[in-house]
Amino acid sequence: MKIEVSANREELGKSAAKEAAGKINEAISKRGAASIILATGSSQFEVLHHLVNYPGVDWSRVTMFHLDEYVGITEEHPASFRKYLMERFVRKVPMLLTYHMIDGSRLEPMEECSRLNEMLSKHHVNVALLGIGENGHLAFNDPPADFETDDPYILVELDKKCRQQQVGEGWFNTLEEVPERAITMSIKQIMKSGHIICSVPDKRKAEAVRNCLEKPVSNIYPASILREHPDCSLFLDRDSASLLSAGTKKES
Ligand code: GLP
Repeated sequence: MKIEVSANREELGKSAAKEAAGKINEAISKRGAASIILATGSSQFEVLHHLVNYPGVDWSRVTMFHLDEYVGITEEHPASFRKYLMERFVRKVPMLLTYHMIDGSRLEPMEECSRLNEMLSKHHVNVALLGIGENGHLAFNDPPADFETDDPYILVELDKKCRQQQVGEGWFNTLEEVPERAITMSIKQIMKSGHIICSVPDKRKAEAVRNCLEKPVSNIYPASILREHPDCSLFLDRDSASLLSAGTKKES
């Protein structure tokens, strides 16, 4: 795993976006097209801002898949990840070939998983942009995460720490308002991505980052699985890297 520690979240965003644009362009020159996965959350603000403004990406050859979404909120809800991706990505790259959002407001979430699984089965994902939650989750795979399922999209229960983070970031007013279920891309499916770019700024992520890099690879620390990916880059800032041991920092 490549680890890069930037001075702040703005610099982190620039570096992660540059790498993402390079990997997308590489896939387009090799295969004529690229498929990407986009995460949401505050960790992706700067990354997406710089990516959509990065010169020279032929978005007309790019297909976007959506990483995770709450069950039971509409696209108009301020915390909706569809709304987030429409505003911060899709509308900023009007040439985009196509995108596949998760509709978490469907009455039967399992039917939505089946629809998405069918859609994704036709693609090999070249680049996945991810974040890590305060509880160490990858997408909405909270601990203990399912490391075994082969289903690409799954229905999950959200744990309290994950739901509390959403209130802390201001997406919801109270814990009760945060949905208890979500549709998420599974760990095995995320790990099939050709290249993974994981962006994790902020002090409040320092413990999750330390667990990801310094604890045994385990579903108790879902993001630790990234260490087993052959081509993963982890972008940190000084705050999120602040609890790492000198040895781990030296490897970066
Ligand atoms: C969020 C989203 C993910 C994101 C991760 C980290 O809640 N479900 O798409 O990758 O958890 O989010 P944040 O960047 O807000 O910490």
